[in-house]
Amino acid sequence: MAQYVLAIDQGTTSTRTIIFDKTGSIVSSGQKEHEQIFPQAGWVEHDPKEIWDNTREVIGQALSKANITRHDIEAVGITNQRETAVVWDKTTGIPVYNAIVWQDTRTQPIVDRLAADGGVERFKQKVGLPLATYFSGTKIVWILENVPGARDKANNGDLLFGTTDSWVLWNLTGGVEGGVHATDVTNASRTMFMDLETLQWDDEILGIFDVPKSMLPEIRSSSEVYGVASGHSLLREVPIAGILGDQQAATFGQAAFDQGEAKNTYGTGNFIIFNTGTEIVHSKNGLLTTLGYKLGDDAPHYALEGSIAVTGSLVQWLRDNLGLIGSADEIEALAKTVDDNGGAYFVPAFSGLFAPYWRSDARGALVGLTRFVNKGHIARAALEATAFQTREVIDAVNADSGVPLTELKVDGGMIANNLLMQFQADLLGVPVIRPVVAETTALGAAYAAGLAVGFWSGLDELRANWQEDSRWTPSMDTAESDRLLRNWKKAVTKTLDWVD
Ligand code: G3P
Repeated sequence: MAQYVLAIDQGTTSTRTIIFDKTGSIVSSGQKEHEQIFPQAGWVEHDPKEIWDNTREVIGQALSKANITRHDIEAVGITNQRETAVVWDKTTGIPVYNAIVWQDTRTQPIVDRLAADGGVERFKQKVGLPLATYFSGTKIVWILENVPGARDKANNGDLLFGTTDSWVLWNLTGGVEGGVHATDVTNASRTMFMDLETLQWDDEILGIFDVPKSMLPEIRSSSEVYGVASGHSLLREVPIAGILGDQQAATFGQAAFDQGEAKNTYGTGNFIIFNTGTEIVHSKNGLLTTLGYKLGDDAPHYALEGSIAVTGSLVQWLRDNLGLIGSADEIEALAKTVDDNGGAYFVPAFSGLFAPYWRSDARGALVGLTRFVNKGHIARAALEATAFQTREVIDAVNADSGVPLTELKVDGGMIANNLLMQFQADLLGVPVIRPVVAETTALGAAYAAGLAVGFWSGLDELRANWQEDSRWTPSMDTAESDRLLRNWKKAVTKTLDWVD
């Protein structure tokens, strides 16, 4: 058996490849950013061709850095930004439009139209999701209605839809020459079209959305051999054996396999996933019901999810749109120039508000300003926004589960920020813990692939790989954290009803 498993992480801002050994340690990696395309206010696109080119390139980077070849790779796992929709022509392999990214809000009129009959929760019991611009279903509708010729081609069976896992898988397995058109249950659960119980596309909902079933990928488990790589010579004949949406992959990489376990990833957005085991739990507090993972023929694991659209991307916005900092990691030093937020609260509702509010009509607000407030306070308010949003979602998780979390496992880029992590622990009142291997997203995809081919023996072996690196313990008194949260909630009310 070969010594390594390779994971492809097709994320919102970049595509990465990480090679892992049997202990779950990183052997080498490659990474390349792709362009963020903002054609209009509220629109966010990626070029799928650039994403596929970058995927090929970063696979090469990781292999050559470790000085290994495809013969050393036992299997490939794919993880991805989840609701981002790609529609392409299956005869040419060319996308009919750019990928419409999960953050994009252009489909609000489609959401409103569908919600006019039955409200935003009309499909929630079946698919676990409210109607919102976030999910991929309305993005497909937009492409069919707005790209010339797309509807006819789709009706003729010439178009394929996929989230970026499917796009990468199809290309990696040969593209126009017989590429495999599939996705896993976790990605399918983000479309609005998958029935949570049957794990199949729902004909009634597809009819209401007017999306032809022939466009949709086959729904498979998260851990099985989907095909072998033939679209990239560097991986020729290596099986592709794992697919998990990136947030579910991070949960898997954190070894949160069992009911009651949870994680929070601090990326461009934050995503808290709480494993509910084999039970489908419907939230009463604004969380999504989603798939956690499904290993081969085993029963699926479900989860409650609190998705937060803007956290790390607010730091990027301060860098790119305001020039307040030169690089993202300068935010901590700037925030440390002041003792507190100076009364300023920043609610980054750039894509509306996701959990627990689900208000697509919200827009960002910076409130509580006086002449006293300086850029240090604004940097601090931006970081605190991540922690406040997380606190609101954890409150929802606790209310739904009835058993408060006693600690929070964290991962993602922003956990390098000590000020934020300490403030997070203070605001939650429970310890915040990071693992040694913090690249949990790629690790989770590698685990899913490695399990399918027998590289790892089972979940116990993976649990044994998880090790604590550091923890932040709460030190703020509750009266103070309650006061801050009250102010935050007041600030949130200022962001609502902005879209006519
Ligand atoms: O739901 C969106 C999420 O999957 C994106 O994650 O880490 O690529 O920003 P990330």
